[in-house]
Amino acid sequence: MSYETLLVEQRGAVTLITINRPQALNALNAQVLADMSAALAAYDADPTQHCAVVTGSEKAFAAGADIKQMADKEAADFFLEDFFSGWTSHVAATRKPWIAAVAGFALGGGCELAMMADFIIAADTAKFGQPEIKLGVAPGMGGSQRLTRAVGKAKAMEMCLTGRMMDATEAESAGLVARIVPASDLLDEALKTAATIAAMPPMAAMINKEMVNLAFESTLTQGLVAERRMFQILTATEDKKEGMAAFVEKRAGVWKGR
Ligand code: CAA
Repeated sequence: MSYETLLVEQRGAVTLITINRPQALNALNAQVLADMSAALAAYDADPTQHCAVVTGSEKAFAAGADIKQMADKEAADFFLEDFFSGWTSHVAATRKPWIAAVAGFALGGGCELAMMADFIIAADTAKFGQPEIKLGVAPGMGGSQRLTRAVGKAKAMEMCLTGRMMDATEAESAGLVARIVPASDLLDEALKTAATIAAMPPMAAMINKEMVNLAFESTLTQGLVAERRMFQILTATEDKKEGMAAFVEKRAGVWKGR
């Protein structure tokens, strides 16, 4: 399957998705949304694929939603199309794990796309920001919500109100990114981490992801109940029997994915 705005390849059990609109610093237009939704849906549906990496170029992960595509639209168009909703209903709804590997600019929708991933690995060149205020708008793909949950109110508010960028070091210390690596190692490190995840029992990976994400949606009591039930459900899988037997027998587990 080929895409107009993405390069997609499979490296073993890892799907690598590269945003490929260099002429617009990977700005996220309707075609990128359609392609990204289709590529992640194909990844989710492919039983041979167990982790994905979404990346951009050296200069830009993505410099935001496509401003040229939005410039002449009217409020009624945005409302009637429920503009940006596909990022939530398709991209963020991916059930299997995926990592954002970010170098260069991750601004506006680019920062928001990175935050939809399960975690971010950043190159030392990465720059994150929500500069929508400078365009007379506000984040529309989750920036005000996910950034606040990731870095807390003080930094999120300052970034949204001033539009300033956060470099990789600040993003790591604030909790926005899992890890910083030299730009030249970004893809290798992200793929290596993805391969580690892809080698885990797949249902356990999906449920770990779901439970960590639930921590942002539930009370502690509700989250703890759900976590216990999920633990109990996982004990019914063949991979639980295999994982515990492999530990006792001092060998690597061989997963069935059920
Ligand atoms: N949309 C459309 N085109 C964009 C773009 C965007 N978000 N960002 C960059 N481009 C285009 C530029 O227009 C330019 O195209 P042309 O050569 O045809 O003029 C090309 O990419 C290269 O960009 P620059 O010449 O500006 O590159 P630079 O190195 O001088 O600056 C930058 C880089 C600081 C990232 C600058 O491009 C910039 O500020 N971009 C816009 C960032 C932004 O405001 N993002 C938020 C968008 S709104 C949003 O995302 C809403 C939301 O919540 C989802």
